Amino acid sequence: MSQLVARTALRALLVRVGGNCNIVVMPVSAASVVKSSEEITKQPMRIHGFGDFEIESKHVQGNFNLKWRRMSSAMENKDENKEENPTVETVKKGQNGGDSVAVPSYWGIEKAKMKITRKDGSDWPWNSFKPWETYHADLSIDLKKHHVPKNIADKIAYWTVKLLRIPTDMFFQRRYGCRAMMLETVAAVPGMVGGMLLHLKSIRRFEHSGGWIKALLEEAENERMHLMTMMELVKPVWHERLLVMLVQGVFFNCFFICYVVSPRLAHRIVGYLEEEAIHSYTEFLKDIDDGKIENVAAPAIAIDYWRLPKDAKLKDVVTVIRADEAHHRDVNHFASDIRNQGKELREAPAPIGYH
Ligand SMILES: [Fe+2]
Ligand SMILES: [Fe+2]
Repeated sequence: MSQLVARTALRALLVRVGGNCNIVVMPVSAASVVKSSEEITKQPMRIHGFGDFEIESKHVQGNFNLKWRRMSSAMENKDENKEENPTVETVKKGQNGGDSVAVPSYWGIEKAKMKITRKDGSDWPWNSFKPWETYHADLSIDLKKHHVPKNIADKIAYWTVKLLRIPTDMFFQRRYGCRAMMLETVAAVPGMVGGMLLHLKSIRRFEHSGGWIKALLEEAENERMHLMTMMELVKPVWHERLLVMLVQGVFFNCFFICYVVSPRLAHRIVGYLEEEAIHSYTEFLKDIDDGKIENVAAPAIAIDYWRLPKDAKLKDVVTVIRADEAHHRDVNHFASDIRNQGKELREAPAPIGYH
């Protein structure tokens, strides 16, 4: 293997020199090339800014092999072909990754997968998100901010949300765990629809989005994480699952049409929905304080996602989710305000990076 890498590296070097006369060739031995690549892969790879986590670079070996291989992709080599014969490996999935699964190893995906540990040395168990996607929620955010309806679109949005609240209140009453879980299935839709439509617009018009695609998709993902957290606390029964399917089918299509017709109205509706979400989570917290809902231990996924202390409770989780909702409220009212001025979203930089 080391001979192969050395030969490949030298060939690539010669090819590059032939194509570019400005390159200065330094005497270098094949052995030193191999040694340096091995040394690099043995070095611990640290990701700065995430002090609680460490990534072991030995698991990145596959990347280096791929790099060398790409440089000599036109060159036939029997040894290399032999290496690419597919073998099957059993990959153990993490806590949220389901059962073990047999996969052909030659794609290099699992080899390239980085091993991530927490500060205490325990394995990072989540496949669905990584440490650099976790964050501290902004608990200083103003929870009482309200957009006073100013024009026809605002009023339509405001009263649409007020009307939607009536059946929700009737159905769930004060069962806030169940209510939160069901509402998060809806809340994760608008960001995805808006992000998707802006994505299509961007590639259709050959123009940047100003970061808004990312901001809206971040919102959708954040809402989905709220749902994944709630799923640890409340298990939906079959008729609730059926209701989710029906509501998703109706809401997705209605919101899609609304966004195509009037992004200003669509964002305003989401802004008011988020105001209602803040109200619901505030009531949730009141019931926890009054002892009507047991303040159980926070799910492990929530502790990692919001960087909560290990002894965090349900109240801490609801508090950070409420702060997220306040952020979504501000993002969507902001977006609606931009459209209200007759401007495109991309004309105002998107608030990305909160999540
Ligand atoms: Fe949410
Ligand atoms: Fe939200």
